[in-house]
Amino acid sequence: MAKIIDGKIISAEIKEQLKKKVSAFTDKFNRKISLAVILVGENPASQVYVKNKIKAAEFVGIESLAFYLPEDSTQEQVNDLVLSLAKDEKVDGILVQLPLPKQINEDQVLNLIPAEKDVDGFLAENLGNLAMGNPSTVACTPFGVIQMLKHENIELCGKNAVVIGRSNIVGKPMAMLLLNENCTVTVCHSKTSNLKEICCNADILVAAIGKPLFVKEDMVKDGAVVIDVGINRTENGLVGDVDYKAVFDKVSYITPVPGGVGPMTIAMLMENTYNCALRRQNAL
Ligand code: GUN
Repeated sequence: MAKIIDGKIISAEIKEQLKKKVSAFTDKFNRKISLAVILVGENPASQVYVKNKIKAAEFVGIESLAFYLPEDSTQEQVNDLVLSLAKDEKVDGILVQLPLPKQINEDQVLNLIPAEKDVDGFLAENLGNLAMGNPSTVACTPFGVIQMLKHENIELCGKNAVVIGRSNIVGKPMAMLLLNENCTVTVCHSKTSNLKEICCNADILVAAIGKPLFVKEDMVKDGAVVIDVGINRTENGLVGDVDYKAVFDKVSYITPVPGGVGPMTIAMLMENTYNCALRRQNAL
């Protein structure tokens, strides 16, 4: 039977600690930390994420500046908003909620965010620094996964870690973080031919593919640590990329969906915003 890694509890602890650090920052530098959040259009999932991010910011004492742009916004309108926030001295972090509507080129928008305000850790500069083991802002979801593993004192050094998914936002930074923790890392994806065999060799298995209940019992090793990054909306409600019930008795640790990685992502966004603010004060 698995131990459940509870992202709600761990993220609540992180946010409690952060609340104190943010308050000390505000006293020391006599200003609020400020996070700009941009949502373009009316994607229902994005609306929920943005609402939760703003709520978390309020809780830890970070001021959020929310910008809601219509679905039919032009590239120029979105670019102009990001450019003005990039120049605004008061703004510590800029978050552009993805996905953007079809007519907008995401890369073009994201590349207008200065690396020092890239609280999502999406820019090439941050991903590159992570790859080189240099200080960087790490994408919130993989950063949250590492915090969960550390919170549970799970040994990483020398372990076989398998990441399913190779996105720039989750899979790639996740692989690099695990490598920096001295795991032996394998990244699987849609073209991987012997996926099951590779997964069965994983001491730590991170599923980030966006396919509901994809990881079954015959794809996990006895006693593996299973981290489920998937959030899939199905007619049976929210489910992860892992068939939770099917693997539960076989593995040693597992994250639930919802209540696992999701809340951690938001807590790490707050942590990243705080760290960006410190860096902008030359205090980190
Ligand atoms: N869309 C899905 N996940 C994320 C995230 O972590 N950050 C942003 N900005 N957009 C997302």
